[in-house]
Amino acid sequence: MAKVLVVGGAGYIGSHVVKELMRSGHEVTVFDNLSTGQEINLFQENRFIRGDIRNQEEIAAAMRGQDAVVHLAAKKAVGESMENPMKYSDNNINGSLNILNAMVEAGTKYIVFSSSAAVYGMPEKEEVDEDCPIAPINYYGFTKAEIEKFMGWYDRLKGLKYVALRYFNAVGYDADGDIRGREVNPQNLLPIIMEVAEGKRDKLKIFGSDYPTRDGTCIRDYIHVSDLATAHVLAIEKLMSGMPSQALNLGTGSGTSVKEMLTAAEQALGKKIPAEYAPRRPGDPAVLIASAAKARELLGWEATYGKDERGMVSIIRTML
Ligand code: UFG
Repeated sequence: MAKVLVVGGAGYIGSHVVKELMRSGHEVTVFDNLSTGQEINLFQENRFIRGDIRNQEEIAAAMRGQDAVVHLAAKKAVGESMENPMKYSDNNINGSLNILNAMVEAGTKYIVFSSSAAVYGMPEKEEVDEDCPIAPINYYGFTKAEIEKFMGWYDRLKGLKYVALRYFNAVGYDADGDIRGREVNPQNLLPIIMEVAEGKRDKLKIFGSDYPTRDGTCIRDYIHVSDLATAHVLAIEKLMSGMPSQALNLGTGSGTSVKEMLTAAEQALGKKIPAEYAPRRPGDPAVLIASAAKARELLGWEATYGKDERGMVSIIRTML
């Protein structure tokens, strides 16, 4: 049993991580400023501190007595990061440095960090392993890559041990319905498809139909959020039993195209969802699939949802 501070624990991925940590018997404190995190996501059993990582004193006070940190507090809209990099510098970079400094001060040795496939930019290989060059093409991805480097230095200089989990495309919700918050104003494919299905939007715009893929639309590796969550628990436990610092991809290892996702949603919902082709969106690689071999080997982790189109149907059912 470890005392774990989950920073950003009221958010979409954070709330799922909290659930899995509790299931594994860990003692969780959630630290969140509720800017995008939601009170409805908090489990009564947990201690909750409303605070902001940009405030060094608040995070330092919360850190005292903790064995480990899961850090998921970040701004994550790619487009916004290009228009307002200052917000991303302040929250993602300065906030993360405050967390690392608070860890050194409190003697907290272990951190699991939410990183992203965005650190790879436009990778040359379709199946991306952790040795692919770190070459972000947006400021959001840059902040994630930098924080990984800071953690590397804090390991060398202060003995802090980290796992950077590079998420591919996170989707779905807790299948037991324990996590009730839904993302407000979603920016990603699947929640947008759901909003079209509910009539909140007119049509899905499929960005690009002439990519060099099996049906001309972009392929991504969609990973269920509960699978992401279990990897955090394993990462903490492995770090605490001596695993050295690592960066690990989290994906299923297989890809789904935009059109296949639309078909899966139509199957799961039993109705036609209006869609039209639109121009390519700048900065979208044609194919982005994780090699998750390293996470499998080092954590003994494997995705349980979503290895094919039928798997996507079961993922979409967790969102209903
Ligand atoms: N797409 C559409 N129409 C839409 C929205 C998306 O066709 O209305 C397409 C995109 O072009 C892309 C795919 O659906 O091909 C997935 O797009 P998302 O915006 O859902 O996700 P991205 O792959 O662009 O990015 C996601 C996260 C990023 C993260 C990245 C890492 O949003 O934060 O995965 O792989 F950095």
